Amino acid sequence: SKTIAIAIDGPAAAGKSTVSKLVAKKLQFVYVDTGAMYRALTLTALEAGADLESENALLSLLQSIDIVLMQHEDGQKVFVNDKDVTEAIRTNEVTNHVSIAAKHALVREEMVKRQKKLAANNGIVMDGRDIGTRVLPDAEVKIFMVASVDERAERRYKENISKGYEADLEQLKEDIRLRDKLDSEREASPLVKAEDAVEIDTTALSIDGVVDKILAVVHEAI
Ligand code: C5P
Repeated sequence: SKTIAIAIDGPAAAGKSTVSKLVAKKLQFVYVDTGAMYRALTLTALEAGADLESENALLSLLQSIDIVLMQHEDGQKVFVNDKDVTEAIRTNEVTNHVSIAAKHALVREEMVKRQKKLAANNGIVMDGRDIGTRVLPDAEVKIFMVASVDERAERRYKENISKGYEADLEQLKEDIRLRDKLDSEREASPLVKAEDAVEIDTTALSIDGVVDKILAVVHEAI
């Protein structure tokens, strides 16, 4: 099939990565989770005791590391240099700091450069916050996934419980609201729906329902 780029953006915990993985598998495209890259930098900064508010500190830290996304049976593994951080980047500590690391313009510029390279010459499904607006502005398909805060917190709650993690529903709602606010209100490429993106409200949809909707948009585009 034709090689195209599919950009999937939306707020925190809207189900972007779950759905993107499935769409990529179906089309035999490469899947790139750009949030994982910001998470990997944040983890590295926290471990190094770097000041997350310092743009220069974060930029030089980023320039000193390789962030590798490895395609895997059911998604991707994430490495910082040779270290597998796939699990470590999903902790609450990383989740609750990542929007600070991601607000710096120079950090984003470097990330976007790396992401464009990953997308070159591939059938690609890339998810994040600025894919349709900044990373792949020429993507043939742009999706903007939204869902209510209650629904997103509920899903994240169930996911945490099923993995054996502790979870507090009200706290999750608060964390999601705060992350959306920081991501939407930052100056450097904030989370915003691209003009030509198709919006899908997943609140009342199943995972397969969302995947089917996206595949329908894809088939119309190719
Ligand atoms: O997608 P995920 O929730 O893993 O993203 C983690 C964080 O990384 C987001 O809340 C946002 O601050 C940042 N991010 C971003 N731009 C992207 C992807 C993620 O700013 N393209």
